[in-house]
This record gives sequence, C-alpha cells and structure tokens, in this order.
Amino acid sequence: MSGLKIRNMDAADLKRVSEICALAFYGYYGKISLRTIEGLESSLALYPRGCFAAQDDEGISGFIFSRKLGSLGWIGVLGVDPCRHGRDIGKPLLEAAYNELENDGCAMIGLETMPDSLYNVGFYLKYGFDMQHPALVLEKEVKDVETPAGYEWTESACPGDILRIGASVVEGLDYSVEAANAEKFGWGKTYFFKGLAGEGFAILRHVSIIEGQKAESLFVRALVLTREDRNDLLRAAACIERYSQSINLRKVTISASAANANAVRWLIEAGYRVTKTSMRMMRKGSYKLSGGVELSRWIM
Ligand SMILES: CC(C)(COP(=O)(O)OP(=O)(O)OC[C@H]1O[C@@H](n2cnc3c(N)ncnc32)[C@H](O)[C@@H]1OP(=O)(O)O)[C@@H](O)C(=O)NCCC(=O)NCCS
Repeated sequence: MSGLKIRNMDAADLKRVSEICALAFYGYYGKISLRTIEGLESSLALYPRGCFAAQDDEGISGFIFSRKLGSLGWIGVLGVDPCRHGRDIGKPLLEAAYNELENDGCAMIGLETMPDSLYNVGFYLKYGFDMQHPALVLEKEVKDVETPAGYEWTESACPGDILRIGASVVEGLDYSVEAANAEKFGWGKTYFFKGLAGEGFAILRHVSIIEGQKAESLFVRALVLTREDRNDLLRAAACIERYSQSINLRKVTISASAANANAVRWLIEAGYRVTKTSMRMMRKGSYKLSGGVELSRWIM
C-alpha cells in the first residue's frame, strides 16, 4: 500500500463503504450485515463535508461519517478494512472528521463506542476522547399493548420549533437537518407532541438500515422534551408505541445516555428492557442538559 489519501466521500464510494463496514464489524457482531445504499446515502447527505474515505493504490480501505446538529457534532460510523487494522488508517480519518466539525463551530464533539471493545476504547482515548457516560439502547414489545388514548401529536410545526425546543434542552442543539433528511429520504417522520405539560418532538425511523432486513422496530432517533417530567415522558412514549402498532412494527427502540438517568428509570418501569450498552466519549466540550430530556443515539 502507498500514498494513503483522506478525501471527502461521495455517492460512488457507498458500495465499497458498505462492504468495509460489514467486514469491520464482523468481528464484533459475528455476522455480516450489509447496510443499504439508501441508508448510507441519507447519512452522507446529512453532513457531506464531514464524511471521508481513505484511499490508496489498492482502493478504499476505510471510511468515516459524522454529522452536525447545531452545536453538537458526533462521529460515526468509522470502519477500516480488517486486513489493514493497526496501520494508521483510522487515525487520519478520525482527525479529518473531528477537524471539520471543530472548524464548523461545534461546541461539543463526541461519539459512542462499544465499552467492551478494548481496541476502540484505547484507540479513542489515545486520540483525545475522554469517557463521559454510559449510554443504553432500550426496547419494548408493543404488540397488544394498550396505550392510553388522548395524547396527540402533529406533523406540523412552526419554522424554528425544532431548534427552539432542542436548544432549550441542550445549548445550541438543532435537529432540523435530521428531520429534513428523514422527510427527503423517506426513512422516517418527525412528530410534535400536544397536550403535555411541556413541549417536545420525536424523530422516528421506520425502515431498516440493513440490506434485505425488514424493520421490526420503530427506532426513535431523537426524543426531546422540554420538561423532565415522568408523565410527559410516558405520554410521549405512549404516542410512539401506538404509532408503532399502527404501522405494524412490533417493537419500539429508544436510546438514552446516563445524563438522562431519570428518563431511563421511568422507561424501565414502563416495561422497556436494556438491549445494548455503549459509551459516550467526548473530545470537545461536554454534553449537558439544561433541563428536560434528550434521548438519542450517536451511532448511525
Ligand atoms: C476502530 C478502527 C476504526 C481503528 O482503525 P485502525 O486503522 O485500526 O487504527 P489506527 O491504526 O489508526 O490506530 C490504532 C491505535 O489504537 C491504539 N490502541 C489500540 N488498542 C488499544 C488499547 N487496548 N489501548 C490503548 N490504545 C490502543 C493504539 O495506539 C494503536 O496504534 P499503535 O498500534 O500504533 O499503538 C478499526 O480498528 C475498525 O474498523 N474496527 C472495527 C469497526 C469499529 O469498531 N469501528 C468503531 C466503532 S465506534
């Protein structure tokens, strides 16, 4: 191998990116899961200037995606062809994405990784990321679940609502690009809750990102509520569960970092079960809630 170059990713790279991703994660998950090209296209479109490919004479050997949600930048997924691990390919990819997010004004830059992967945790620590808090993936079966009626949501909002609600929970947080991406690429929808004590919205994904796999779960990409209030959270969750049933998805998946410890406890009490753990690591700023609830997963 010679002449490794880190360059911006483009749509023509996505087939190879999907292959490398499947190979890179094979060791961890024990199975080959190819990501759909449509899913990768939508992720690339979220923040093209922060997505890179590592290329040399032998072709593409690694890739990185990142996204910017207002003041928050997060990195992932990052993958290197397993035949080439430990040869300084991951590092320049990580640096390229990090520098882009930093130059673009992100006040917080982080990622989520598997806490039981010694290599990943060591790799990110070495390149300046500090461990911040654990994060969880929570799931609930919604088949035949009776959800209380009367709590509503709407697809319409005033311009700026996503930014206003997000920024009141985490300074500068703006999910507008993600909501627009869901609409444009048809992977999901954004709903605004009505009738809660506070305000809030959810961005929901109803399609699978894995080739040949039918979605079983409604995946909550983000659930943002301006009040940290048990009733508001459970009513919002009930709306999501009811919607999941109505589109024949038998599970709801909600992710949360330990910064939302009360919300996690309330969801567990409401029947959610932990199905995965990960760890948030930050290289710039620290993720803090100024109030309310912000449930999300920093992994695409
Ligand atoms: C994680 C990954 C992207 C790193 O890419 P890479 O090209 O292998 O990494 P680099 O060669 O640039 O850097 C490796 C460095 O990590 C550090 N590292 C690895 N394991 C470590 C450990 N246990 N403790 C401390 N540092 C460690 C080392 O410093 C190593 O460099 P060195 O061998 O020169 O000392 C790659 O291994 C990969 O694709 N893994 C599978 C997919 C994955 O888990 N992606 C990340 C999801 S969050």
